[in-house]
Parts: sequence; C-alpha cells; structure tokens
Amino acid sequence: MIVSADAGMRSGKVVAYKPLLDEAIKLAAHKPSKVLLVDRGLSPMEKTAGRDVDYALREKHLNTVVPCVWVDSTHPSYTLYTSGTTGKPKGVQRDTGGYAVALAASMKHIFCGNAGETYFSTSDIGWVVGHSYIIYGPLIAGMATIMYEGLPTRPDAGIWWSLVEKYKVTVMFSAPTAVRVLKKQDPAFLTKYDLSSLRALFLAGEPLDEPTAKWIADSLGKPIIDNYWQTETGWPILTIANGVEKKPSKFGSPGVAMYGYDVRLIDETTGEQVKEPNQKGVVAIAGPLPPGCMQTVWRDDARFVKTYWQSIPGQQLYSTFDWGIKDEDGYFFILGRTDDVINVAGHRLGTREIEESISSHPAVAEVAVVGVADQLKGPWRWPSRC
Ligand code: PRX
Repeated sequence: MIVSADAGMRSGKVVAYKPLLDEAIKLAAHKPSKVLLVDRGLSPMEKTAGRDVDYALREKHLNTVVPCVWVDSTHPSYTLYTSGTTGKPKGVQRDTGGYAVALAASMKHIFCGNAGETYFSTSDIGWVVGHSYIIYGPLIAGMATIMYEGLPTRPDAGIWWSLVEKYKVTVMFSAPTAVRVLKKQDPAFLTKYDLSSLRALFLAGEPLDEPTAKWIADSLGKPIIDNYWQTETGWPILTIANGVEKKPSKFGSPGVAMYGYDVRLIDETTGEQVKEPNQKGVVAIAGPLPPGCMQTVWRDDARFVKTYWQSIPGQQLYSTFDWGIKDEDGYFFILGRTDDVINVAGHRLGTREIEESISSHPAVAEVAVVGVADQLKGPWRWPSRC
C-alpha cells in the first residue's frame, strides 16, 4: 500500500503529488494493490477505481483497537535509500529492537528530552533525521513531537520560533543549512518570541562551520550542539552527550565519540591509525557497530560488506567515507566526504576547508565549492566510492 496526498506545499506553491504518483506506479514493476489518499484540498485529483482509497474512510475506523504485532528485535523496521555516488542507491536496512534501544538512549543521554515535553525537529520524515527524531525517538521518550511542513522563512523568518513559544519546545533539532538561510533574514525574528522553554538547539547533517555556529549561538543565547552521523548509523556517532558527561562544545567540532562507537582515524594508504593529533584520516568505526546501525544493504549483503567493511586496506573496519581529524583533547573535526575532494595540480583539497575560509567573510552567508575540469591543473574524474 502507498499512503499519499493530493499535493504538498512548498513556499506557498502547490506541488501536485497525485500525477507524479500515478506515473511512478505506471512505471513500477511491482505495483501496490491499494493507494490511500489524503485529500488536503490543494489540488483536484482523479481516483483510480478499485485501487485508490479515500482517507476520509478513516472516520469509520477511528476507534478500532488494533493489537500489537510482536516481531523479533532483528525484524527490519524500514529501509531508507542513500546515494552511492556512482552506483545505484543503497537500501539501508534497519532492525526494530536495536533501533528502539539506541533512540531511547540518545533521547536520554544526548538530547536530554523528558517525557511530557515537546521536541521539534525541523527535518522531514523522508530523511533519516526525520525517522529517528521526528517520529520514533521523541515518541519512545514520551515526548510530543512537532511535524512542520514548509520553509523556515514563510510566512516570515520567525515561524520556527513562534512554534517554540507556542508549544513550549524544550529540544530543537535542525541543520546548518537552515541556519544559514535564517542568517540572511532580519535577526530581529530571533528575539521576537519567548524562547525560555528551549534548552538547546541540535544541528546535524553537514559540517557546522564556525561562523554559522557562532552566529546562531549568539543570536539565540542557547547552547548549540553539533552531532555527526549518517543514514547508515541512524543516530549520532560524534556529539557532546551532556546526559552522560557535561563537556564544553568546541566551535567547528561535532564533539567526541558517543558510547557504543569505537571511532578510529585511519591513514587511507596504510590502513593504520593516524598517530599524531590533528592528523587527517578516514573516519572509521571498529565492529561491532552499536544498536540502531544498519543491518545490511537491503537484499545485498555482499554490497554491504564490500562497500562499508572492505574499503580500508588490511583491516575490517566500517568506513564512514568522511575525512576527519582529532585534536589533543579528543574532539573530532569532520573535513568532508572522501569522495568530495578537489584535485588541483596534484593537491587534494577538501571542499570544507575551502568553503569555511570563504564563509568566514562577514558578507557571505552560504558557500558551495565544486570542482571543474582544467586542462592544465587536472581533469575531473568520477569519484571512486561504490
Ligand atoms: O559527510 C557526513 C555528513 O553527512 C553525511 C551523512 O549524511 P546522511 O546520510 O544524509 O545522514 C545525515 C544524518 C545526520 C556524513 O557522512 N554529516 C552529517 N552530520 C555531520 C556531517 N558532517 C559534518 N558534521 C556533522 N555534524
């Protein structure tokens, strides 16, 4: 069964889903027997007889008690597709019990959310952050959760903060990109609402550059807690877990290894751990991975082993495919994807390093660095990650 709607809205613009869905089903080899449609009144839609079911029918079943279905802890809860740069997307398969344990632990020890409070993740549920921290994590922790559809700037750049005030949000989770979007707006919106309920803002998904982190920390007057993880892991690998041990954050660093993760920095040519602080290496995790991390690539165990566990020479370690360094105090800094390297005349430059130096200029709110082929300095090649 597919659950969908007539349309969605983005920045006031209606995006009709139904025609897209009909076309996708036409192309699909495996067709759903039923499509359950929520009519939001945004766009007229034509139903396919026998297949499409109107969500309004739920009224009839509202009080139906549906018994729990008990499953093994290893029963897959979902698959979420993540890109392979050159190949077909990989279905990250996650279990049920381990995932629930990991989320419960992280709600307590990282996000420090309490039952009865309200959690607000500005993500969407199509992304792993939405799965873990809009839906399952907060609900497992007994918290109310806010699902917000739309941009942070509409109707104006105060919309998120008005929600924090209205629902007395205590824990908020967003992404650096969204903060950079707000940075281009009038800063008065950040002080317009009562944010006294909010304890911290968590950010993840990409490197949190120092200028962005400083700007939002100063503007909100709240702790900003970076956390680093992947679709594959389902919950943070690196962060500051204030519910375990209070530690100061360092600008530019997502923090230290979360319990359960044995994080190593590996020299990509020798496969050995880097020896010196601040020496660049591939961020790898020694097995076994903690609960919540992917079980396998859906229907492709061989690809799971080959892609994730055999890319480091001489050792069976899980590779995150990110570059990182660790300073003298054990704080990690993520320098970008190992396949996101610009090669200029033989020098391998990380995109983050270039982006960060440009974004430190006060007139710059957003930066994206891309490589282009150059006859003299080096041709562009496909990245090697499979
Ligand atoms: O490169 C890292 C970057 O995003 C990748 C994972 O993206 P995705 O599978 O969409 O999962 C995001 C879950 C938060 C990582 O391999 N990344 C994620 N968080 C951070 C980050 N890079 C730097 N700092 C972070 N906090």
